[in-house]
Amino acid sequence: MLVTRQLVFKRFWYPVIPISQLEDTPQSFVLLGEKLVVWLDLKGQPIAARDRCCHRSAQLSKGKVTEGNIACPYHGWEFDETGRCVNVPQISDKAQIPKTYKIQTYQCQERYGYAWVCLSDDPIQDIPQIPEASQSDYRLIPEFYETWNCAGLRVMENELDLAHPTYVHTTTFGSTEHPIPDELDIKDTEYGIKVQAKLGVVNPELQRQNLNMEDEQTHRTLDMDWFMPFTCLLRINYPNGLTHIVVNTATPISDSSSQIVQFCLRNDTEEETKAADAVAFDRQVTLEDKEILESTNYDVPLDIKKEQQMMTDKPGILIRHKISALLKKHGETEQTNE
Ligand code: FES
Ligand SMILES: [Fe+2]
Repeated sequence: MLVTRQLVFKRFWYPVIPISQLEDTPQSFVLLGEKLVVWLDLKGQPIAARDRCCHRSAQLSKGKVTEGNIACPYHGWEFDETGRCVNVPQISDKAQIPKTYKIQTYQCQERYGYAWVCLSDDPIQDIPQIPEASQSDYRLIPEFYETWNCAGLRVMENELDLAHPTYVHTTTFGSTEHPIPDELDIKDTEYGIKVQAKLGVVNPELQRQNLNMEDEQTHRTLDMDWFMPFTCLLRINYPNGLTHIVVNTATPISDSSSQIVQFCLRNDTEEETKAADAVAFDRQVTLEDKEILESTNYDVPLDIKKEQQMMTDKPGILIRHKISALLKKHGETEQTNE
């Protein structure tokens, strides 16, 4: 499946840029092949528009923000949050600015510290709801914002694949004694799927410090949500009461690349575990995944007969079925390179 050729993916929300990166300057981002400019208006709300001026097509993201409007770097035209041109330095009477001077804007809103964009006016689902993000006993820690050369679908199923840790996470938590999970329960939901599982893992030293735990062998109780199409929430409950929630979106840039936007939520304090140490452990885990995922084929077949399957692939199989059903419902057929 080639994501940029399945129009239905334009009808979902994706995190594109951390708000902190918009504070001084506009930014560009390519979402599903569409070049965007993202900036902050006077209220500090993110605005997204097509990154092309309607005058001579210059990239607005190379311009600057003036009083909450985006100013083109070529001749200085300025556009407001609705895309309307509100200042043309070469026309002194603003009332004379033609209504046709405008750029295409897209729905954009701030959530969890990121600007989220939907390329359609008619989103199929809301931005994923994470109850812990508004609970005072949880802190939100931004983790990664980087491009991976692989398909979002591969990233999603990898998070729900409990056979890979033994082989991929050899320097972090993978346990050779636990090649399969002790428990695996999968439920179909309105927003995607829910997977509940129990997996035996090891705790290397940094992780033992982060968890305030002595044991080298332990188990993780996992409560994972896949939000269609490219967001995963991994709620890891440890026996000592700590909950570490990883939220990860593989925002689709092109058919073969995704922007990994990851943050975590934890119910402990900075005194108990330094945010930098929690990020350092997840960094190591994530790089182990990246190495493998970038070696996979980005044109992921939805037809499960085109790849071989095993018991632990059940979540990935259900993800494929649900994406196939989504395409069918919206009158699309799977587009591939084949
Ligand atoms: S190209 Fe943008 S103002 Fe001329
Ligand atoms: Fe992994």
